[in-house]
Amino acid sequence: MGIDKALSKITHGMYVLGARDKVSLANGRLAGSMVDAVMQAATMPLMVAVSCNKTSYTRECIMENGKFSLSVLGKEVEPLIVANFGFQTSRKVDKWKNVAYYEADGLPYLKDNIATLACEVFQTIVLESHTVFLAKAVDGQEGIEGEPLTYKEYHDGFKNKVMQAFKTYNENKGEK
Ligand SMILES: Cc1cc2nc3c(=O)[nH]c(=O)nc-3n(C[C@H](O)[C@H](O)[C@H](O)COP(=O)(O)O)c2cc1C
Repeated sequence: MGIDKALSKITHGMYVLGARDKVSLANGRLAGSMVDAVMQAATMPLMVAVSCNKTSYTRECIMENGKFSLSVLGKEVEPLIVANFGFQTSRKVDKWKNVAYYEADGLPYLKDNIATLACEVFQTIVLESHTVFLAKAVDGQEGIEGEPLTYKEYHDGFKNKVMQAFKTYNENKGEK
């Protein structure tokens, strides 16, 4: 088994990463992206690690502001939520306008979450392809009841629903 195959056996959950654009703080421009590369990294202090692709606009906002939110997705989540945050960039689209959300301490959270975390960046590790944020979990809440959706389930079938939902979303946009 090669490295790629071995790495594909490592699975994660599914999260919406929320952040705020510093440049337009006054206008309240929010950013967000779909992420799976999240783990609890320590218990003392309570730390999470999140890995963001270098192309991600949400990553840039976190670099500037040093804080982010995580909304944990459950198995019953609308497939369009994954497409909305994962298939388009906040550079061009105000993704939060397409979903039910609320704000707390300047960060956006998906209403359809099974849990949320508010995080403050402790250390930033810049790699060639990704930036890894090691961050302190400063607040956490339980959301609606449900089981977490895993990255494996996304690849095993949920992805088809997500792609179909994105196709319909784009077709409807064209008709407007
Ligand atoms: C299922 C799924 C998992 C993803 N996981 C990650 C991830 O862990 N880290 C990351 O940076 N991007 C991940 N992405 C890609 C980003 O969500 C995508 O590049 C998004 O368009 C970035 O948006 P932004 O430019 O508004 O930040 C994932 C996408 C999907 C659909």
